[in-house]
Parts: sequence; C-alpha cells; structure tokens
Amino acid sequence: MRLQKYIAHCGIASRRHAEELISMGKVRVNGKVITEMGTLVSEKDKVEVEGKPIHKEKRLVYVILNKPSGYVTTVSDPEGRKTVLDLLRDVEERVYPVGRLDYDTTGLILLTNDGDFAYESTHPSKETAKTYLAEVMGLPSNENLQKLRRGIPLDGKPTSPADIDVIEIKDKSSVIKVVIHEGRNRQVKRMFEEVGHPVLRLKRTALGRMQLGALKLGQWRYLTPQEIKLVRGRKNG
Ligand code: URA
Repeated sequence: MRLQKYIAHCGIASRRHAEELISMGKVRVNGKVITEMGTLVSEKDKVEVEGKPIHKEKRLVYVILNKPSGYVTTVSDPEGRKTVLDLLRDVEERVYPVGRLDYDTTGLILLTNDGDFAYESTHPSKETAKTYLAEVMGLPSNENLQKLRRGIPLDGKPTSPADIDVIEIKDKSSVIKVVIHEGRNRQVKRMFEEVGHPVLRLKRTALGRMQLGALKLGQWRYLTPQEIKLVRGRKNG
C-alpha cells in the first residue's frame, strides 16, 4: 500500500495531510526518513510519524454521539476539561471527532478513525448542511430574520445564505431552526449576537442528511453502511 494511504488508514491523518507529513520529513519507515510520495509499505514495515509508531486500524468505524454540554470536542484539553472521548469508553478503536461543537453546545457529533472521511466531510467545498435548534433571547423581528437568512458580516465577510425558521415562541425566548452550509468558529452564536438576540442554548440536530434521531444525551452508536453514504460526498447534504 502507498505510504500516504497507509497513514490515513492508521486513523491519524487524511491522505492529504499524510502527504504533507511525508514531505516535511516527519515519517520514518524502518528507521529511515522517507520524503518520497508513493513509497510502498506493508504491515511488516515499522512506520513512525513524528517519532511515534503507527499501526493500521483493523476496522474503520463511524460513531454518532449526542454530545452533552460540558465536553470539548478535541482529543485532549489543556485545561483538563472532559472530552467527548470520555463518553466512548466502550469503543475499542481510536476514533476522533469530525469537526467541532462548542463546550456548551449539545447534539450530533460524528467520530471516526477514517482520516479520509473526516477530511472529506468537513471540507468547506462540500458545503454540508448543518442543522441547529437555537434558543435565543427574545424574538427576532422579521427584518432581523431576513438579515440572518441573506447573510450577516462576520469578520468582514458575509455569512452565506441560511434557512431560518421560528419553531416556538416562549415568554422571554424563542426557538429557531437554523441551517447553515459553513462552519465558522461560533458561527450560529455570533450571527444571533449580531442582531441582538444572544443564544441561550444550542443543539445540532443534523449533519447533511444524517439526523441525530432518538439518541439520548451522552449516548452513542455506530453508523450503518447506508448512513455512512448519507454523510459522505453529497453537496448540500
Ligand atoms: N455554531 C456555534 O455558535 N457553536 C457551535 O457549537 C456550532 C455552531
């Protein structure tokens, strides 16, 4: 197998990232630094990335988790906070999160040991639809809802068109369904901050055509092969 593919199958990087690691001289095969793309390796070879030996994953797995608030979606946290991996003790494979959710955001997060899948499904060119339920302070006016739909400048660049629907009106807040096709940092929260309606609670309910469904907070399950196809490779989900 070609070295870059082998590294991706070890679940530590996408194939493209593996190529970068190789060209930066960070990969050794049997003790020798290899910078040539396409070098052939087998499981008998000792492959190290940045000094650490890597092993081909026996099985590529895809996990869907309903993330509770109070967990980070990185593999480790310098502040020692709990990570979503703490909820996956029974998953034997070394999976890692696909994309991000904020510490206090709940809902759908995917995890995998398939580096290519992780890269493909978060790449901006895919424009995968991300669906959220946002409970916001007060009720935004029709004018503000239109602004949110058309695009709001964030960091000097307007957000791309979004679907925005008021789902429920409460005494002091409202619940709004938001579908965006980008994933800028804290995007939903910042969009509503811009129009003066801070987000009180945020939950992701779908990624592409993959729905969170009936999973309870903190619960996870493996995706079925059909579901993997749903998340993979479809523009606009
Ligand atoms: N937008 C946010 O503001 N936060 C998230 O966690 C996801 C989308």
